[in-house]
Amino acid sequence: MFDSYNRQIQYLRVSVTDRCNFRCAYCMPAQGVKMLSHDEILSYEEFLRIIRILSNHGVRKIRLTGGEPLIRKGIVEFIRDIAALQTISDISMTTNGSLLAAMAGKLKAAGLSRVNISLDTINPKLFRQITRGGDLTQTLQGIEAALAVGLTPVKLNIVLTNMITEQDIAYFVDFIHREPVSVRFIEYMPIGESVTGPGPSIEEIKTMINSFGRGKLKPTIDICGNGPAKYYNLPQAKGSFGFITPISEHFCSVCNRIRLTADGKFKPCLLSNQEIDVKTALRNGASDDEIAELFYQTIAKKPQGHTLTNPDEPTQFFRKMSQIGG
Ligand code: GTP
Ligand code: 5AD
Ligand code: SF4
Repeated sequence: MFDSYNRQIQYLRVSVTDRCNFRCAYCMPAQGVKMLSHDEILSYEEFLRIIRILSNHGVRKIRLTGGEPLIRKGIVEFIRDIAALQTISDISMTTNGSLLAAMAGKLKAAGLSRVNISLDTINPKLFRQITRGGDLTQTLQGIEAALAVGLTPVKLNIVLTNMITEQDIAYFVDFIHREPVSVRFIEYMPIGESVTGPGPSIEEIKTMINSFGRGKLKPTIDICGNGPAKYYNLPQAKGSFGFITPISEHFCSVCNRIRLTADGKFKPCLLSNQEIDVKTALRNGASDDEIAELFYQTIAKKPQGHTLTNPDEPTQFFRKMSQIGG
């Protein structure tokens, strides 16, 4: 399925819950956000029906997001049901990793292919501060477990904030030499009021990495991903670095995705307020064709690109990042 700008849409990001056991400073306000009630959230049966219908219209990749997807009960069985459709070639998840150590084996057995894990700093105090209460050890154990059971390639997500230090970069340079992980630095997107102060730029990060005496970054091909990161490696490293630049060099021209929120709205673009209500149709007995029609309407509404960097188009976002899933 192609949109009006000739972009092929094969990828659906499904936010299974708006709840999270962390409250990362760049993602949620300190006081949290108003949580959806049980009835407002789609059931797994409803999600599965949408995925089945969309897979008949070209969707081949599903990423489960949140909030934190691992806190929703029944997630393992849900993954098993998606895998049983046999139409989805890549089932992945974006998680904060805190609950992963105990669940990695079951997730893998159910059919999850791979995980992307947020790890914004390896300083335990700053980690607690940025996540507003998170325990670094649990996330590190989650990363180890993901590698051990083969939820690979494992990718780490680091949003660039003022909390990132040279020690973090040194740790990550060492880490990609020890493990086949991809460490991705992400430019902060100003959705909502939550900021921790501007961090280093991608160019500054690259300069720091190049200064550790482990060789210079060289562009490399994507390592099994559907997303916007550009990848680089170092001469002796098992893993790689990735850079995600929604602000300095956006990737809208190759955008391949739409989103489904926990409360049943299709979103044509992360950075736009447009939403198409699929929940009401589902609950009013819509046919498969009618649901597919809403998917086509969503694709038709996909903007050519975001306008975050256009000062003439100030955007107030209705949802925080945690309510969309990134
Ligand atoms: P793979 O490449 O398939 O592994 O996944 P991904 O990088 O697309 O997914 P992930 O959830 O790990 O997202 C990494 C970062 O990219 C997060 O900060 C997301 O908010 C951001 N991101 C993902 N998709 C989009 C998008 O369509 N637009 C923008 N602007 N940012 C995105
Ligand atoms: N800017 C960039 N990335 C963000 N994420 C959450 N909020 C933001 C933001 N404001 C990332 C998280 C997570 C993914 C789902 O989105 O780091 O890995
Ligand atoms: Fe796609 Fe919108 Fe993201 Fe651009 S900002 S890459 S159009 S979802």
